[in-house]
Amino acid sequence: MSIEPLRILQVEDNPYDAELALRELAALPFKLVPLRVETEAAYRKALVEFAPHLVLADFSLPAFTGMDALAILREKNPDTPLIIVTGSLNEETAVACMKMGASDYVLKEHLFKLHPAVNGVLEKARILDEKKSTEDRLKESLQNLQAVVNTSPLAITALDLTGKVFLWNPAAERIYGWTEAETLGRVLPTLPEGDTETYLHFLADFAREGGTRTWTGRRRKKSGEFIQAKIHAALLHREASGEPYGIMAVIEDETERIAAEAALKSSREELSRSLEQIRRSWEQTIAVMAGLVELRDPYTAGHQRGVALLATSIARKMKLGEDRARGVYLAATIHDVGKINVPAEILSKPGRLSDLEVNLVRTHPQAGWEALKDIDVPWPLAEIVCQHHERLDGSGYPKGLMGTEILLEARIIAVADVVEAMSNHRPYRAAFGVESALEEIRSGSGRLYDPDVAMACCEVFEEEGFSF
Ligand SMILES: [Fe+2]
Repeated sequence: MSIEPLRILQVEDNPYDAELALRELAALPFKLVPLRVETEAAYRKALVEFAPHLVLADFSLPAFTGMDALAILREKNPDTPLIIVTGSLNEETAVACMKMGASDYVLKEHLFKLHPAVNGVLEKARILDEKKSTEDRLKESLQNLQAVVNTSPLAITALDLTGKVFLWNPAAERIYGWTEAETLGRVLPTLPEGDTETYLHFLADFAREGGTRTWTGRRRKKSGEFIQAKIHAALLHREASGEPYGIMAVIEDETERIAAEAALKSSREELSRSLEQIRRSWEQTIAVMAGLVELRDPYTAGHQRGVALLATSIARKMKLGEDRARGVYLAATIHDVGKINVPAEILSKPGRLSDLEVNLVRTHPQAGWEALKDIDVPWPLAEIVCQHHERLDGSGYPKGLMGTEILLEARIIAVADVVEAMSNHRPYRAAFGVESALEEIRSGSGRLYDPDVAMACCEVFEEEGFSF
């Protein structure tokens, strides 16, 4: 309430007395706006239109009394202070006026007391006003808090220290199934059977230790089902004494999240089992294909397996990663699968082959590509197999690819293929031996063979003691 300027309504039939009273108030630290009325009608009108901050009322007027003025004021403007200013007043009447709600009374012969009386009344009004606006703010923030509690998607509950519920929001109703009316004043119904005693001990500990706590636990619904609840709780204290009187808890229903996580974990495991099965069946298929070609060509039986072991060691030495090294292993295992197209008598023929026969043998990388191109695996097996006789300088076959046009996996298998073939004897020739094989690789490094692969291959033998 702003009291600048201070509107004073004087209920006084004597203008001279009214003037005297105003003079007493001249020292007040703000501007005064006075209005004098004599009749009840004028008084009622002024209460509405003039809206006084303060009423000074004579006790007895010709057609009206100070008591009447007081009664009307209490009814119309209950917060506006009224001071009785009168010529004479016995003590009983004064007490009656105060009981009816007069703020003070001043005798006209002691008019000097009017100033302190008005000051006192205005101070009281100011304090009242402040209290009211504090209460209004408190009320507003309580309403805001109530709105949050009511619209929260999380359950919010409060219990006293005997476990009895005194707050149960709509989300708690929705999650647990019990209505507010069913829970207020009752011991928390969501505790699993037999847990109440333990919970009351927990509340006592909580009250002693204070602070906030978060925990996850099973909670019962009205339907008898259980949920996994994540509970965040804070201790509540009395404002005046600081005594703990209960806890407030915010509860998240974690049931679906936990179930979804478990389902996800199990489907991940299922997927990884399926992938493992698929991987095994690829490898079995490839092993069967490798077996078929070696069955037709007993002279190179074991060759593919030897190449696969050496090529994988080179890939690991070159730090290609386990997955890519696996691709190298599988491609090497069947790198000569296209020989299934070459007549067996040519493959097993001792001695020199004619040009026609050589050309027939040279179709095997392309035939391997044909055999493998439709297999759906995560490695480019068909391309690797097709390129295993390509050479860095373009002198290889079937396409005469050069340098990095040739897949790294194929460059690795090319080196392993040569080393394995030269290291072991064939029915039509003696073995050259590992040393000669490595010499061939060294001398062809950078021209025929990838230099990094050549170096890794020599290290695999010389540093790791690789043998077929
Ligand atoms: Fe080959």
